[in-house]
Amino acid sequence: MLEKITGIKTQAESEVIKNLSDLEFFRIKYLSKKGLVSLLFDDFRNVPPEHKKEIGQGLNILKQEIQEKYNQLKVVLESKEEKSSLNDLTRPGYPISSGSRHPISIVRSEIIDVFARLGFLVSEGPEIEDDDHVFSRLNFAPEHPARDMQDTFYISRISEEDSNPDDILLRTHTSSVQVRVMQNQQPPFRTISPGRVFRNEAISARAHCIFHQVEGLYIDENVSFADLKQTLLYFARELFGKETQIRLRPSYFPFTEPSAEMDVSCRLCGGKGCNVCKYTGWLEVLGCGMVHPKVLEACNIDSKKYTGFAFGMGIERIAMLKYHVNDLRLYFENDIRFLDQFKTSL
Ligand code: PHE
Repeated sequence: MLEKITGIKTQAESEVIKNLSDLEFFRIKYLSKKGLVSLLFDDFRNVPPEHKKEIGQGLNILKQEIQEKYNQLKVVLESKEEKSSLNDLTRPGYPISSGSRHPISIVRSEIIDVFARLGFLVSEGPEIEDDDHVFSRLNFAPEHPARDMQDTFYISRISEEDSNPDDILLRTHTSSVQVRVMQNQQPPFRTISPGRVFRNEAISARAHCIFHQVEGLYIDENVSFADLKQTLLYFARELFGKETQIRLRPSYFPFTEPSAEMDVSCRLCGGKGCNVCKYTGWLEVLGCGMVHPKVLEACNIDSKKYTGFAFGMGIERIAMLKYHVNDLRLYFENDIRFLDQFKTSL
């Protein structure tokens, strides 16, 4: 047995290995499951007990030495091969896979583009806000349920029982940005505020605690509901196609009066009814209305002289309708297989 070990040792030492394929051959010959070293280990069972210690040690040393030779050669040969391939200037380059924009960014840019054509400027504001900008100046009554802990992530609260304009929270809508615009600028203005918003909701296919909105505001003399309707019709047709119809349903928001919700005709069935529009022919896309005079006054705008309209939409919702995505969570998981489907020049 000892002789066999020395035999294999000399044999392995004398092997000439020039490249990686020689090395692989070497590995299979000595180190694989059926290799020479493993076969010796199999024989070890038949060694009489009094020789086991000596032979066992010999075997282990042999295995270590061969493994070491293999490891060293691997490092050397791999770097050699890499170098020689780098020297070959005619070798085709590695393909670089190009990234893609996130679907939410694509749709956000599209929405901004449509309103930019109508003269709307983009305004941004903080995600961490106070109650004053998110609720109070937008005419939310102190006991309005939207302020409740169930919807709003509070960062600090003055009192657990009552809301206070100084409470610090994560904004639940980007209407807060519009309050800042109204406070700091003189009408007329047209502005849209895209951004992230936060609501304390359980995460499901249809709801998430973080999502994105684009809200719009137009204030001038003699702005009417007809202007709102025409603006939204233009927007819907630019985004969803020339044939798109819109429908406004009466609704309620504290900061607009009258308020409405807008539906667009279902693109999939052309309004005839399908499972996407739940056989109604319509899909709900946004909330809107004429800015409440109380909101104008709270932001130091003369409500006798000026009127305006506002609207707000969730970008995820629009993207879901555009791309027929039926689970909101896909937008946040960043699975490359999902994201790769949105290659675009935008
Ligand atoms: N701020 C509302 C929301 O987050 C949307 C909205 C904006 C509705 C402007 C009407 C007017 O749901």
